[in-house]
Amino acid sequence: MSDQETTILGEFLPYEEKIGESGNFIFVDAKEYIDAHKKTLDNYEKFWEELALELYWFRKPQKVLESVEKPYIYKWFSDGLINVSYLALDRNVKSGRKNKIAYIWEGEPVDKDGNPKEIKKLTYYELWREVNKASYILKSKFGLKKGDKIGIYLPMIPELPIFMLAAARLGIIFTVVFAGFTAENLATRLNDIKATLLITADGFYRRGKIIRLKDIADKALELSPSVKNVLVVRRIGLENLNMVEGRDYFFDELSKGVSPGVYVEPEKLESNETLYVLYTSGTTGKPKGIMHDHGGYSVLLHATMKWVFDIKDEDIHFCTADIGWVTGHSYIVFGPLIEGATSIMYEGAPDYPQPDRIWSIVERYGATILYTSPTLVRMLMKLGEDWVKKHDRSTLRIIHSVGEPINPSAWRWLYEVVGEKRCPVGSTWWMTETGGIMISHTPGFKLVHLKPGTNALPLPGVDVDVVDEKGNSMEPGKKGFLVIRRPWPGMPSWPDGIWGDYQRYVQVYWDKIKGLFFTGDWAIRDQDGYIWVLGRADEVLKVAGHRIGTYELESTLVSHKAVAEAAVVGYPDEVKGEVPVAFVSLKSGFSSSAELVEELKGWIRREFGPIAVPSQIFFVSRLPKTRSGKIMRRLLRALLEDKPLGDMTTLEDEAAVEEIKEAYERISKEIKRS
Ligand code: WTA
Repeated sequence: MSDQETTILGEFLPYEEKIGESGNFIFVDAKEYIDAHKKTLDNYEKFWEELALELYWFRKPQKVLESVEKPYIYKWFSDGLINVSYLALDRNVKSGRKNKIAYIWEGEPVDKDGNPKEIKKLTYYELWREVNKASYILKSKFGLKKGDKIGIYLPMIPELPIFMLAAARLGIIFTVVFAGFTAENLATRLNDIKATLLITADGFYRRGKIIRLKDIADKALELSPSVKNVLVVRRIGLENLNMVEGRDYFFDELSKGVSPGVYVEPEKLESNETLYVLYTSGTTGKPKGIMHDHGGYSVLLHATMKWVFDIKDEDIHFCTADIGWVTGHSYIVFGPLIEGATSIMYEGAPDYPQPDRIWSIVERYGATILYTSPTLVRMLMKLGEDWVKKHDRSTLRIIHSVGEPINPSAWRWLYEVVGEKRCPVGSTWWMTETGGIMISHTPGFKLVHLKPGTNALPLPGVDVDVVDEKGNSMEPGKKGFLVIRRPWPGMPSWPDGIWGDYQRYVQVYWDKIKGLFFTGDWAIRDQDGYIWVLGRADEVLKVAGHRIGTYELESTLVSHKAVAEAAVVGYPDEVKGEVPVAFVSLKSGFSSSAELVEELKGWIRREFGPIAVPSQIFFVSRLPKTRSGKIMRRLLRALLEDKPLGDMTTLEDEAAVEEIKEAYERISKEIKRS
């Protein structure tokens, strides 16, 4: 972010003639785009209806947008019948893409020459068969049916999308838990959704090591009483697994008795039926289970695959995210499959065995679209251009990033080094809650000029604004809150928005600025109408693009026997965007030491996961708090960044100046000591 603010309102990047070579884009200036965008909003329901009707419905919707008795809950296409698994598979099998490759999957391990040991290509027909088989097992072996809930804790192997689609086929609500999460994280999610089945794997490869996933799942199962059965995919063939008789089953063994041609009729679901719940961090409390439905969500993905990725039948789509996060749900699984595209799915670490793994994959399969993250770019950038240049990237035609603001230098590297100035490079803004992309360059609609680091303009039919705390639009160039003014297909869905917690849904997203969807981000709109999302306005951390709630991290620290209180704030980091830094006060009987720092870091790694390990831990006698007990995080952040006290007295509205001064000086000394 550091070099971003200086270029805001900066110059357009003149089009290199080469950009035209990588696609038949319609180039427009911002004004023309904004006019076209306005038209989509004028006739806003009609606009979304037409897009919806491009999809296959078992029964076409007559209604577009419907309010229900609960404020801020909307039903999109409520009387339509649909099933995203049918759209993703059966439609393609029936309409000429039967033998087209859906997934090219590459395992992490390499041979002595550095070539991948395992590559699997699954056609739409093969994927359809696998999904039918998996559905059959969910239905006949475990008796699962529409409305039941399951957890999926799988690494990046084909069985992950297979089970997501198999559940969707039956109307079973699933929650995917990132395979890098710990047992505690898994248990919290399984308990919240009350999953009765957990699907996991024996293990997987990560940076050359084997991670024993089932062992971690076993720990979670001790804390998750709702789970009655466990289905285990054998990825590696690990020995000594704890398979509990009558509870745990291997997928391959159950598959043996199933005919390869088995067919499971997809449920004809109402558009608003829940497809999945995906947990994400907020400012306070436990993670929120964001709900997405079959109908509206599919419509948004269909639209964004067209506009943002300009998806064509001959494309090879490569999204480097993990399916455990929303980006993978939407742009590795449902989006590309709805469009009948060919996607690459890579199991392992991007720098294993060498920093050119991503570029070797681009070259090996001739990827045409690359969707990646600023953190990955910054990491690879540091290792030099040679790793990139070793590999042919001439097939690439569109590059986008997601997850956090992209600083102009990382943007330039993607544009100049990776894409050789041929590809439009964008930074697509969206969040778990939106289901799909909301603000982006749109090479498949109309392409406005590039500017390094911007998110560009809102997508057609999407009404975003930058406002003050009362909801008034900010002037160009002024920082404000990013909000969404109207409902959109793909929004947190009926009946509660947040699984089991409608009140929280209203309070977190709609009550902050009455009636507008509050994203929690700061943004600026520049004089051309381009939006620049600057980062979170709340206490959510974005570590390497992963969303981590300070509250969850603090609770993990406090659960350690030595810790009385903890506060976590984000500190800028060159590669990861930001990293957590913890301030900890100890219980009596414990004293600060280098060993305790290491122990606490290890504790977080084990209890929360490696992504959240603080870069530094400071011991303080007492945390600075306002009178109402709120931790003065901004004071802590200012201290870390070595900002003078003068700037700070205005930062914490609720605290008296004297208190702030006292805390600042005390903690400043304590930091120096520790
Ligand atoms: C941030 C990820 C700037 C933002 C899809 C948002 C971005 C949060 C961008 C959501 C971008 C995502 N530019 N910031 N292109 N994309 N963000 O739920 O702070 O993991 O609120 O969804 O990521 O993170 P989430």
